[in-house]
Amino acid sequence: MTCVEDFRQVAARRVPRMFYDYADSGSWTEHTYRANVSDFALLKFCQRVGINFEHRNLRSTLLGEDVTLPLALSPTGLTGMQHADGEILAARAAENFGIPFTLSTMSICSIEDVAAHVSRPFWFQLYVMRDRDFVGRLIDRAKNAGCSALVVTMDLQILGQRHKDIKNGLSTPPKPTLMNLLNLACKPYWCMHMLATRRRTFGNIVGHAKGVSDMGSLSAWTEQQFDPTLSWDQLEWIKARWGGKIILKGILDARDARKAVDAGADALIVSNHGGRQLDGTSSSIAMLPDIVAEVGQDIEVLLDGGVRGGQDILRAVALGAQGVMMGRPFLYALGAFGEAGVRRCLQLMANELDVSMAFCGRTDIRDVDRSILLNPQIFDGTNGL
Ligand code: FNR
Repeated sequence: MTCVEDFRQVAARRVPRMFYDYADSGSWTEHTYRANVSDFALLKFCQRVGINFEHRNLRSTLLGEDVTLPLALSPTGLTGMQHADGEILAARAAENFGIPFTLSTMSICSIEDVAAHVSRPFWFQLYVMRDRDFVGRLIDRAKNAGCSALVVTMDLQILGQRHKDIKNGLSTPPKPTLMNLLNLACKPYWCMHMLATRRRTFGNIVGHAKGVSDMGSLSAWTEQQFDPTLSWDQLEWIKARWGGKIILKGILDARDARKAVDAGADALIVSNHGGRQLDGTSSSIAMLPDIVAEVGQDIEVLLDGGVRGGQDILRAVALGAQGVMMGRPFLYALGAFGEAGVRRCLQLMANELDVSMAFCGRTDIRDVDRSILLNPQIFDGTNGL
């Protein structure tokens, strides 16, 4: 395995079709999903030579936490369906590597379960559901589990449509169509691990939300629960209940970035949900410079969407991000080889970042700025166009 694409190809063979497609897809035409990746490549590096770069440093901080490199794992739902016990395996790989892991509200392994398997605090991602009692208790559970930051997702009040999920019958519970059953029969690696675990449903929800005790009731509950009424003023009670660091995820406009600062967030994530929500909007990287120009002095700015190698981390940091997050790369690695896959994927990212930074004439990631790019201005003031 030498790159994310290698992991993707193995995951496509090993993970059942409906779960692989769930990860490897965006909404509607997938234009934004693809732009997240292709826009990174528009930023060109400025190669420098004749500089002693024997000693190099990638260590940095994210929300005051020391990290091996400025990277964290994005929250992803159903991670325990890419590989049995997926959240625990990915959290362990992240911990061993020295970067934050973010557990999704829609995870298979529960908050408490993941906490029992790691020794460093992880981040917890919150979907603000209609059932505010449930949300309050979820926040308390994350606090009790020692989570060090609450990532509140702002861009999933309603759902973008992903064609493949509908065609594959990805629902709760998954539809046992003949095609799905035949497909499972071709995935012995996945089945073997899945048969050995009991973690096969939404661990944070079943048994915790009123009236949700099995797959059938869970289905009805999730359908009603995403809340289109979520607005900025509701962040106040979330903040008060949580009492710790808050990161707002899904910011793609400088005006909303300003609102995130006004709401008292500690950080924001420039994100379009990996191209899974509003198709046809800008890539994350193209919106980064305008958002940094607006709030970079006031708040830590992170980015996710389209990071596929260490060079993308370097580009985002050059344009003013404190760090980046990534979803699909670690999901492919997890689906392909479990914990060892995620570890290897992180090593590849770090190595590519390290070497590319050196070629740009820098020895410390904390000194990287726009001058390492030949065309740092291409997205300035363009509203991502
Ligand atoms: C996601 N994402 C996501 N975000 C979130 O806040 N809560 C969630 O439960 C999920 N679930 C989820 C599942 C899957 C399969 C994917 C691919 C993504 C979005 C995620 O946190 C992140 O924004 C994107 O994955 C970033 O884009 P890349 O790195 O996948 O290109």
